[in-house]
Order: sequence, then structure tokens, then C-alpha cells
Amino acid sequence: MPTIPVGILGATGMVGQQFIALLANHPWFRVEWLGASQRSEGKAFADAAAWRLASPLPDDVARRQVDAATPGRAPRLVFSGLDASVAGEIETAFADAGHIIVSNSRNHRMDPTVPLLIPEVNADHLALLDAQAAKHGWKGRIVTNPNCAVIVLAMALAPLRQFGLKTTTVTTLQAISGAGYPGVPSWDILANVVPYIGGGEEEKVETEANKILGSLVSGSVSLHPVIVSATTTRVPVHNGHTASVSVGLDQKPTIEAVIDAWRSFSGRPQALQLPSAPPRPIVYMTELNRPQPTLDVNRDGGMTVSVGRLRRCPVLDYKFVALGHNTIRGAAGAAILNAELMHSEGLL
Ligand SMILES: NC(=O)c1ccc[n+]([C@@H]2O[C@H](COP(=O)([O-])OP(=O)(O)OC[C@H]3O[C@@H](n4cnc5c(N)ncnc54)[C@H](OP(=O)(O)O)[C@@H]3O)[C@@H](O)[C@H]2O)c1
Repeated sequence: MPTIPVGILGATGMVGQQFIALLANHPWFRVEWLGASQRSEGKAFADAAAWRLASPLPDDVARRQVDAATPGRAPRLVFSGLDASVAGEIETAFADAGHIIVSNSRNHRMDPTVPLLIPEVNADHLALLDAQAAKHGWKGRIVTNPNCAVIVLAMALAPLRQFGLKTTTVTTLQAISGAGYPGVPSWDILANVVPYIGGGEEEKVETEANKILGSLVSGSVSLHPVIVSATTTRVPVHNGHTASVSVGLDQKPTIEAVIDAWRSFSGRPQALQLPSAPPRPIVYMTELNRPQPTLDVNRDGGMTVSVGRLRRCPVLDYKFVALGHNTIRGAAGAAILNAELMHSEGLL
């Protein structure tokens, strides 16, 4: 199959670098264009970016010149890992000019005509793209993936909808790679826990899951009624957002039924055997001290959510721990899976 050229907006950042690493040997997509800020424009990528990943920077990308983040020279399909302070305007300009933007940034996520996708959970929300064309008049399209903590939470909650999911409390322990590079100063994070993440992190966790878990009714998303209460914290972990979750359910399933719901959970990426799809989106771990970021975050290339420690909650019904890789399943890998789904559905 001939490969599809792609661009990366925000290529020099943490998420941009993860795009480059994940696309290095991708069977369908090849990186042909890199865009970032004026600080990087005109420089070779290796000079513009501080490469922070363990996998080697591909030679062709290292030599490639970084372009301005303006439409015109990029291929039709563009992944975005832009800073949220500029992503809204730049992504709109690209969509207006006919590009298909598959974005990580928060700016367009809650637009009712923009799919907020987790392909295993709500692949049918791609149908919103029809309404997007009508509302915005863009020649291109914008598709988004959720906030990195929300992806972990929403994937763990999706199989629980069948039990009448009604309330959720979540406390996250989020990795420093989630703050970009250079991110949180070492003085603030070493041997410490910071009980606040800026940029409206808790508000995102409390609202995005309702859209993701919602159902498509007459061409728009009917929000899922689950009420989410979130506390988000930053911890001295490189990669991997952990979430301690309690859920209230209308029905009273057995522990075995809940575990079975996670273990049997599967979706369009698995049915279509998309290149980035993990064999099982959720792995339930029986060891009492798992999941842990250092041991479990890279399972299946970082695309699996690991869940464990399911037990009765004396306040709500059940409580458990979930973990996912924030820059892979929570960002670049999620966006690549979205684009793979769109390609399979004939939307590219
Ligand atoms: N890190 C995560 O785990 C994660 C997960 C999910 C979603 N996200 C979201 O993904 C986006 C990127 O996050 P990150 O962690 O990769 O941030 P980052 O490391 O700070 O990278 C930000 C990128 O945006 C570019 N940029 C900044 N200002 C710009 C401007 N005025 N014009 C054009 N480009 C500009 C930067 O280019 P220069 O290098 O040239 O300045 C850089 O490439 C954010 O919206 C974030 O919320 C991050």
C-alpha cells in the first residue's frame, strides 16, 4: 500500500517528538512536513528540538527544516501537538485551508461538531464531521483526542456504562512529561507531589468524559449523564498517568462481572486490526501492587490501559486504579489511531 504523507504541527514539543518516534516505521503514514514556532522556523529539526525520547531521532527528520505553522506547504493530513495558547487559531486556519487536522490540543475538543475520539469507545462520533462542514464551512476537518488523563479514565469507564454508571470520583497522579519540555522545574517536582495542574486540568477531566461516553443521536452527541469529580496532581514520574477511581453504579454487578467487562472490552481498532491498535485496549492485572508506571506503562507500545486493584468502595460502589501512557495512548498514539480509523473509514 502506498504511504500517505503527513505533517506535524508542534513537532518540536514532547507530543511532537512522540509523533515522530511512532511514525518512524508506520506502514501507512510518512512524515513529510514539520511546523513549529518562529523560534524553530528555518532550523534543522535536530537544532530546533531537544530530543527527549529513548528511541533514536530518525536521520531524515533530524535534517528536515522546520517550517512556520502556517497552511500552504503541509500535506493534507496534519497531526497537531501545538501549545494550547496558539492551537485554536492555527488549527482553524489549517482546516479552513483544506487540511485534515488530527489534534491533541484542548481548543476544539468541546465544539459540538468536532469528534472527541477514542476509537474503541466512540468511533461512530466521526459522523459529527458532516455537521462540522455545515457549521464552519471549512474545506478541511478537525478531529481531536481527549486530554491525557481523560483517555485513561474514559477507557476504564466505557465498559462500565452497561452497569448504569452514574458517579465517579478520580484523583490522578500525572507524569512530568505531561507538562511538556522543560515542564515542571526539578526543584518543584523532585521528591514531591504538586496538588494542582494548571490549564483547567480538573475541568477537562470533569467534562470531556461526558462527551466521549455519550451516544450519537440524530447527528449530534447526547452527553453521558455520569457526574465526575476530579483532583489532579503532578508526581515525579517520567511517563504514565495513574488514576485512583471510585464509581457509583445503578446496578450492582459482581466483582467478576466488572473484571469481565474490562477484559472483554474491544472496539473498531481491534476489529479492523489497525496498525496502532493494542490487542486488548484494557488489561486487568490481578497483582495487588499493580499497575505501576515503571512496570506497566509501555505495555503494547504504550497503547494499553492497565487496570487493577478492583475492590468495594464504602462510599460509592467500586474503586480501582488505572494507568496509561500520557504521550502515547494519551496523545500522539491516540491521534495516530484516530487517523488510522479515519483512513479505514474512507475519511482521509
Ligand atoms: N504532554 C502530554 O502528555 C500531552 C498529552 C495530551 C495532550 N497534550 C497537549 O498537546 C499539546 C502539546 O503538548 P506538549 O507537552 O508537547 O507541549 P510542548 O512540549 O511545550 O510543545 C509545544 C509545541 O508547540 C509549539 N509552539 C509553541 N508556541 C507556538 C507558536 N506561537 N506557533 C507555533 N508553534 C508553537 C512549540 O514549538 P517551539 O519548540 O518552536 O516553541 C512546540 O512544538 C498541548 O496542547 C498539550 O496540552 C499534551
